[in-house]
Amino acid sequence: MGDAAHYDRPIPLRHPFIFYEGHIPAFSLITLNPRALGEPPVDAALERLFERGIDPGSIDEAKRHEHRWPSRDAVAAFAQQCDERVRAALETATLEDASVPRLVRGQAAYTILEHEQMHQETLMYILHQLPYERKRRLNFRHEDRAVPAGEMRSVAAGTATLGADPDAITFGWDNEFRATQQQVGAFDIAAYPVTNGDWLRFVEQGGPVPEFWTRRDGAWLLRLQFEEIALPLSWPAYVTHRQAQAYAEAMGMRLPTEAEYHRAAYGTPRGDERAFPWGDEQPAPRHGNFGFERFDPEPVDAHPAGASAWGIFDLVGNGWEWTATPFAPLPGFEPMASYPQYSADFFDGKHYVMKGASPVTAREFVRRSFRNWFYDDYPYMYAKFRCVA
Ligand code: AVJ
Ligand code: FE
Repeated sequence: MGDAAHYDRPIPLRHPFIFYEGHIPAFSLITLNPRALGEPPVDAALERLFERGIDPGSIDEAKRHEHRWPSRDAVAAFAQQCDERVRAALETATLEDASVPRLVRGQAAYTILEHEQMHQETLMYILHQLPYERKRRLNFRHEDRAVPAGEMRSVAAGTATLGADPDAITFGWDNEFRATQQQVGAFDIAAYPVTNGDWLRFVEQGGPVPEFWTRRDGAWLLRLQFEEIALPLSWPAYVTHRQAQAYAEAMGMRLPTEAEYHRAAYGTPRGDERAFPWGDEQPAPRHGNFGFERFDPEPVDAHPAGASAWGIFDLVGNGWEWTATPFAPLPGFEPMASYPQYSADFFDGKHYVMKGASPVTAREFVRRSFRNWFYDDYPYMYAKFRCVA
C-alpha cells in the first residue's frame, strides 16, 4: 500500500486506514495501562481521538465523523510510545488480580490481544475495497469444482448451549456470558452454504447482485483481495443479511436461528455437545478455511475433516454465517469492566448474530461461545449463509 493510501477510506462507513494505525495501539494502551493498571496517559488528546471506531447506520451519519487526521509520522511516534508501554506492562505488571474487575482472569490483557486480532479482519475487508493499483499483489492459487447442490441434513431435537461460563474458558467477551441452554426442535438444514452457483440462478431470476461481484463483457467476475477472477461457482456467496433472507424466502426456506446453528455445528445424534463441529481437537487448517491460511474462499466442500456430527460442511471458516437472531445479551449478561460498550452499544435490534469464521478470522475466535454481529445491510463482510427448511 502506498503512503497516500493510508488516508483513503475505501468503506465510507468506516474510518480511513490511518485511524486503525492509531486505534490498535491506543486501545491497547488505554485498556491496559491507565484503566487497568492506573498508569498515567501517553497523550490524552491522541488517546481520545483513537479510542473508538465507528459503525454509523448511513453514509450521511458517517459524514459527522469526518475530520483531519494527524500525519503518519505523528501517528507512528504515538503508536510506538503506546507499544513500548504496553509491552513493558505485559512483561512486568501483575495482569491477574481477582479483586480488580479489569484484572479478573487477566481480562484487560486478553481484551487487547483479541481486539487487535479482530481489527486484522477489519483491515482485510477494508483493504478489499481499496483499488488494486493502490496495493501490492500477493499471488494465490484458486480452486473451483463441481460441488453437491441442494443436499439437506436432518438435525434431531435437542439442547444447544449458547455462550459459556466465565470459569469454563480462558477468555470471553461479555456477550459470550453466561452459558445458556436452549431447547431446539428438529429441523432440516443445508449440508453446504449457498454457493455463488446457487446465487447466480437467483440473480438470473431477478435477485440482487452481491457487493463482491462484477459483470464484464457478459461474464460474472468475483472481486478477490488481489485480483478479479471468473466467478467460482463452488465458493460460498458472500451477501448481506437482507440478501440472505430474501434468498431463503424465495426458496420457501429461512435462516437458522443462533440456537439452530449451534445444534447443526456442535450437537450430536448421541445428545452430547462438541467443542468444535469436528470434535474436541484444537482448530487446524484441515478443519476449515480460517486463521489467515489464505485471503479468499475455497469450495464449500473443501474440508470434510471439519464437518459436524450430522455431516454438515463448512460451518466454521470460509465466511461467517448469518443467523436469523438479532444480537442481544444472553441471560446474566454484564458489560465487561475492560470495555463496557463493546457489546452493549449494539443491542439495538438492528444487528444480527454471525457465527463461525472467515478466512481472515484469527484461530482464537474459533470457539463455540464467540459471537460476531453486523448491520443487516452491511455489504463488506465475509459472510455467507445456509437455509433451514
Ligand atoms: C465484533 C467485529 C463487530 O469490528 O465492529 C473492534 C469488533 N469492536 N473494536 C467491530 C470491535 C471494537 C466489532 N465486531
Ligand atoms: Fe476497535
